[in-house]
Amino acid sequence: MAELLIVDNITKTFGGIVAVHNLSFSIQEGETLGFIGPNGAGKSTVVNVLSGYLEADSGKVEMNGVNITKMKPYQRVHIGLARTYQIPRPFPELTALTSVAASALCGKKRINQSFEDALVEATHYLEFVGLFSKRNILARDLTFYELRMLELARALATTPKLLFIDEVMAGLNPPEANNAVKLIARAKEEFGVTVFWIEHVMAVLMEAADRIIAINYGEKIADGTPDEVVNNEAVIEAYLGRGWKTYA
Ligand SMILES: Nc1ncnc2c1ncn2[C@@H]1O[C@H](COP(=O)(O)OP(=O)(O)OP(=O)(O)O)[C@@H](O)[C@H]1O
Ligand SMILES: [Mg+2]
Repeated sequence: MAELLIVDNITKTFGGIVAVHNLSFSIQEGETLGFIGPNGAGKSTVVNVLSGYLEADSGKVEMNGVNITKMKPYQRVHIGLARTYQIPRPFPELTALTSVAASALCGKKRINQSFEDALVEATHYLEFVGLFSKRNILARDLTFYELRMLELARALATTPKLLFIDEVMAGLNPPEANNAVKLIARAKEEFGVTVFWIEHVMAVLMEAADRIIAINYGEKIADGTPDEVVNNEAVIEAYLGRGWKTYA
């Protein structure tokens, strides 16, 4: 598998807090890479840096051999990076359909696309996440689950190569969470996206991930197959606890 993204020695501090410290890893084209660690470990900060929402203090990020460290978020979208937010960030006054159309217009090959075409595409992505019947509802009137699905539709509408998912299950009831997980598997099949997936529900990553990276205090503590990572002493100590010893 080819390396799609290379993260080289990234550090990000907030005042005195070192959220991410000298972190290096790569993402292979086509894989589902799980990203785990305790609350406050720096997982969302990594996605914020890789998506260009935050600038790292130091380090380098390469996508397909191109240095993207200084690229703006919209430029990263054009080359095929998309993300969802841990807490959905809708445009409250736009309908579900218009919200997704706006993303389609921002996507990588969409610069000369008409708004009408974007609406047609948006319909397709709303159908994909099961929100077609809600297409004319304002985002501010959607439920939490619907907002999560809207986040996914908006990210997919930019036609990403690499999708960062920052917790799709948190706050959802079991059937909703189950649906969300199935949708990610379908998104991989239908759109061929590579997935970088932060999730606290280990059983889901055990099933879905090809590989898992664990971090603690902003530093990598494990990188391997799901079985290797859940049996890693440092990961058990910092995050999973002893119960996972018996998983395999
Ligand atoms: N914008 C910010 N300003 C100041 N501190 C921040 C900011 N974003 C994150 N932090 C701090 O950086 C550290 C890492 O936070 P981050 O949100 O990346 O953790 P996380 O691994 O995503 O945790 P969780 O599992 O709870 O979502 C924490 O100490 C957090 O308080
Ligand atoms: Mg987080």
